[in-house]
Amino acid sequence: MLRDAAPRMAYVMPDFHNPTGTLVGDEQRRALVETARASGTVVVADETMAELVLDADTTMPRPMAAFDRGGTVITVGSASKAIWAGLRIGWVRAAPDVVRRLVSARAYLDLGSPVVDQLAVAWLLRGGGWDQAVATRRARAAEHRDDLVAALRAQTPDWEFTVPGGGMTMWVRTGDVSGSRLAVAGERLGVRVPSGPRFGVDGAFESYVRLPFTVGGATAVEAVSRLAAAARIVRSGGGSDAEGAGLFVA
Ligand SMILES: Cc1ncc(COP(=O)(O)O)c(C=O)c1O
Repeated sequence: MLRDAAPRMAYVMPDFHNPTGTLVGDEQRRALVETARASGTVVVADETMAELVLDADTTMPRPMAAFDRGGTVITVGSASKAIWAGLRIGWVRAAPDVVRRLVSARAYLDLGSPVVDQLAVAWLLRGGGWDQAVATRRARAAEHRDDLVAALRAQTPDWEFTVPGGGMTMWVRTGDVSGSRLAVAGERLGVRVPSGPRFGVDGAFESYVRLPFTVGGATAVEAVSRLAAAARIVRSGGGSDAEGAGLFVA
């Protein structure tokens, strides 16, 4: 695609991609950066999920920028997933001239990032609290992921997924049920999940939903049981008058 279309920019998420959870290996990273360089494409690599490694035996590939000979990769990230969703401080790592251009463009686009939030992130990074906060977050996410996987295996055995080694989301194939219809029926039962076509073009991924592992324990079990009920409603061709009970997963 890069060779045929030679786009000016490609946005990629090689670390626990949202929604699929995929972790891209070193060789594919190298190939992507080299092909992008040849087609004059700037690669924006979003590392927002990179710290959310959930399995102890995962060896992380090298960052995309490690394969860059200069000027092809712009790396971005955010504290909002690794630490806390309310801490919306991001960062950019790029060649010095790119950073200079971004800084001057930004001056006209916004009025600056919140100072207290920036101080909080700086404090975490300097004071060593960052690693501790990320470790807490990872442990929690791993627990929630495992709870969600167990609930899905028990209640929706015909749904297919690869258990992601990190990130926040699971990409689930919903058997013979349309993901779009499942999302509508699920919302009526109080569980809001985005359907596959929201992540593609021209109606792609119709038989998928994205399930974030943001809740665990009994809440995860209840959420999946409502999704299973929604699937039954869709399969029977009916709607539901049930009111949402205020349980939102995504
Ligand atoms: C992959 C990815 N990158 C970036 C962001 C945005 O981060 P922020 O909350 O700092 O704007 C999100 C948030 O959903 C995300 O999923």
